[in-house]
Amino acid sequence: MIDWSKLPFGYMPTHANIRCIYTNGTWGDVTVHTEETITLHMAATCLHYGQECFEGLKAYRGNDNTIRLFRWQENAKRMSKSAQRIGMPEIPQELFKDMLFTLLKHNTEFIPPYGTGASLYIRPLMIGIEGKLGLNASTEYLFVMFCSPVGPYYKDGCKPVKVIIERDSDRAAPLGTGNVKVGGNYAAAVNATLRAHQQGYSSALYLDPKEKKYIDECGPANFFAIKNNTYITPQSSSILESITNLSLMKLAANIGMKVEQRNISLDELPTFEEAGQCGTAAVVTPICEIYDPIENVSYTYGSPESLGAQSMKLYNTLVGIQYGDVEDTEGWVTVFK
Ligand SMILES: Cc1ncc(COP(=O)(O)O)c(C=O)c1O
Repeated sequence: MIDWSKLPFGYMPTHANIRCIYTNGTWGDVTVHTEETITLHMAATCLHYGQECFEGLKAYRGNDNTIRLFRWQENAKRMSKSAQRIGMPEIPQELFKDMLFTLLKHNTEFIPPYGTGASLYIRPLMIGIEGKLGLNASTEYLFVMFCSPVGPYYKDGCKPVKVIIERDSDRAAPLGTGNVKVGGNYAAAVNATLRAHQQGYSSALYLDPKEKKYIDECGPANFFAIKNNTYITPQSSSILESITNLSLMKLAANIGMKVEQRNISLDELPTFEEAGQCGTAAVVTPICEIYDPIENVSYTYGSPESLGAQSMKLYNTLVGIQYGDVEDTEGWVTVFK
């Protein structure tokens, strides 16, 4: 028996994963697999040259037992963009949808019950599988979709977290791959994440890699701040365009907040009323403290126990739409039947 309300953000085996192979310039048939492993050529381009991209989206079970997907088309588009940025083929939206719906059909019983705070995390993944030695694009690719029921990414769910400004490394370069979802960005962030955890912070907060003057994003999520009834979030070529953040910007505007997507200078940190991280996994996680190790100064926001009022309003609306409790006026939800 799964204890749905105590699920971590972690991997759990399910009934099936879905696969499709690209070869000779075309995608093949969609196939259903029970094995959790992939057999790879040791010279596969994903292993040596990082030809790998992925996505993360969720399916939610509502109070009416309806299963909803949130803006999956945006994940499909972003995955194609990521793939093309590192020399891999585009993924047709129809193929993405076919694999997604086949995955849900085979794993419906793993979509957690309403009211447990859990959801089904879906991980599409694409890798170059041709064995070759020289630096070049593979001619063959494997696209896999698997899923796992998950609880919130941050252990305490919506409880505020502390983050530490990272000054010893960058997760991406100004014209690098920070704006797409490829594995290399996350490899570049592993050490900073480990250091942040060792020092008692939930994640590293990266600065713009060119001037180190502006906030970029957190390891697994975008950054936002709120002051003077304004939702402020970084504009940067080295961060991932978060679908959650795009949605929050729209929801903030809908409730009469001003929305600014612009450079956020470090000098502005003391002026914010609320700060937070947002993403599919992080949902809306408030930040109660940002520590700057160079200046040895901490900026604090709200209370360590509760969400700021405006973050809370945005969180409730977003999660309400995802679970079907709040009307989906933007047409973001797809019902799985
Ligand atoms: C680096 C990074 N930034 C932001 C996000 C949030 O993006 P989304 O809201 O589309 O999940 C993610 C998660 O996908 C991420 O890995």
